Parts: sequence; C-alpha cells; structure tokens
Amino acid sequence: MNAIKNNLETFKQELKVALELATSPTQLEEVRIAFLGRNGRIATIMSVIKDLSAEDKRTFGPELNACKVWAELAFQEKKETLIKQEILRDTMRKQLFDVTSYKPQTLTGKLHIYTQIIQELEDIFISMGYDIVDGPEVETDYYNFQALNIPADHPARDMQDTFWLDTPGMLLRTQTSPAQIHAMEKRELPLAIFSPGRVYRCEATDASHDFMFTQAEGLFIDKKVSIANLMATAQQFLQKFFDRKDLAIRVRPGYFPFVEPGLEIDGSCPFCVAGCSICKKTGWIELLGAGLVHPNVLRYCGIDPEKYSGFAFGTGLERLAMIKHGINDIRLFHSSKIDFLDQF
Ligand code: PHE
Repeated sequence: MNAIKNNLETFKQELKVALELATSPTQLEEVRIAFLGRNGRIATIMSVIKDLSAEDKRTFGPELNACKVWAELAFQEKKETLIKQEILRDTMRKQLFDVTSYKPQTLTGKLHIYTQIIQELEDIFISMGYDIVDGPEVETDYYNFQALNIPADHPARDMQDTFWLDTPGMLLRTQTSPAQIHAMEKRELPLAIFSPGRVYRCEATDASHDFMFTQAEGLFIDKKVSIANLMATAQQFLQKFFDRKDLAIRVRPGYFPFVEPGLEIDGSCPFCVAGCSICKKTGWIELLGAGLVHPNVLRYCGIDPEKYSGFAFGTGLERLAMIKHGINDIRLFHSSKIDFLDQF
C-alpha cells in the first residue's frame, strides 16, 4: 500500500513542476491532458480503487480523492495566474504603444536621373537667357548631316555610326545638332536655344559607350558673336553645374564639320588639384564640343554669314552625370535598376 502513497507523492511533485514550467495556455492545456485528462495520470491512479479491499478503500479512498481535488485546484490556480499575467501584459503593451514611432513604409517615387540632369542643365541655360526647344528623334539625312555641312560621302559620317530606317533618307538622329537647323529655320534672329534629347548610334556598348544616350545642344546667333562669348558661356556653365566659382576652362582644337573653328572645351577637374581617377590624372574634364557656326550652315538656313555669326556647343548628359555622381557605367542609366536609380 506504500506504493499508492508513493505514487500520489510523485504525482503531486511532478504536477507541481509541470505547472510551474507552463507559461502559455497551450502548454497548460498539455499539462491538463497529461495529468488530469480522461486517460491522464490521475485517471490511472484512481483506477486502482476498484481493486482495493473494503478496508483499504476506507483508508486510501479519501486520500486519493483529496489528491484529485488538490490537483484540480492547483491547475485552476495556475490557469488564473496565467490569465492575470496576460491581462497585465496586454495593459503594458497598450501603455507602451508609441503612436509616434509608426512610420509608413511607402515607396516614394522620384524623377529619373535623366530627367534630373536635363532639368538641371535647362535651369542653368534658362538663367542665361536661352529658350528650351525639343527636336524629333527620327530625322532626315538633310537635318542630321547635309545641312550641318556633312554631305553624302563626307568621311565625318563614319564618325557617327547611324541607325538608318527602312524609309530611304530617314534615320535615328546621331546627335542633337539638327536642333540647330530647325531653330535657325523657324526663329527670328538673334536666337539662343538649348535643346536636350536622346540620340542613337549603332555601336558596340561598353562602360562608356551606349547605343542610346542623351545630348544637349546649345546655339547662339547674333551680330558679332565671337569665341570670347562662347568661352564665357562655357565657364558660366561649368561653374554653375558644379556650383564652384573657382573652376576654369581651357580650349583645344577639335573637328566638327558644322563649326569653324572647331573646339574641344575642357573644365578644370572639380575633384582634385593635381590629378585624380575622374580626370584621368590630367586635372581636366571634357566639357563641350563646340565652335563658331560654319558659314555653310548659316547659308543653308538662309542666314547671311557676313551679317551674323554664332556659336554652337554640344555635350553628353550621361557623361556629365557620371562625373558629378561618380557613376562608372553609362549603361546603368536605362537599366531600370531601382537600387541604382534610388540613389539620385
Ligand atoms: N554634335 C557633336 C557631337 O555629337 C557635338 C557638337 C555640337 C560639336 C555642337 C560642336 C558643336 O559630337
């Protein structure tokens, strides 16, 4: 009969420990099933009653019943404690809930780097009195080459590999320079226009060349326009673009059939004094292709080169953005990579 007593003792000890360890309603339910359920430990213990002699029943019956009552009470007590704890936790959660810490995770859109750089340049040239004009991306041979003093068979045509369209004489413009011709044909003199837009070249791509990129064209025509005006404009542009008054320009000879003389205008590197990787250790960055508008081009547009002169310049917008923002591959611009675009 001592076995019964021992069983009861072990049962009590183990139930105590199990209740102690239960910290959630699910765990508590598991304890209930294991100890107090229909097939649980207490049921097994109680089942011995029916095999006891009448005398033993009198001795152990009340003890077994008392144990069962004790177990149910202990379980109930633990259940109430858990409920109280949950209520307390809930109140704390509500008290500690900080409405100001809520930040909605909405994705904000922004302007594409193309648009940003175009707007930046447009603002600079608008501040210098230029009108912004747009030009067609599908052009004729006449506007892209002929009127720009690049007749058929001119070797300069090979400098700009062209996407010719099925319609004879039609092409995707290889430069924004046709905007010069459209402006001179349509506008009164004097004129100052700035024309950004896409251009296309049928060439293999690498980190600094793409089959599609963005250029901007500038044209200023008036009486007595000289290289001095061009250089002052280039310097203003450089200083405003990098927001640095100390930047200088230098001029090298260049060749473009529609300007005479033709010039390459460089700007002093905004990132170093003695040479860095951006200026390829030269201290200068290429800024513009430029020159005084060729008399032939003026004549094509019905302007008398004896009375009027002007300058034109062109620049690659991706290249400027790459220098300004330290971008190392031109192809990223139209890659639609959100990680890349998100930086600007
Ligand atoms: N259109 C020339 C190019 O694509 C750039 C340029 C424009 C040069 C205007 C001189 C004047 O390289």
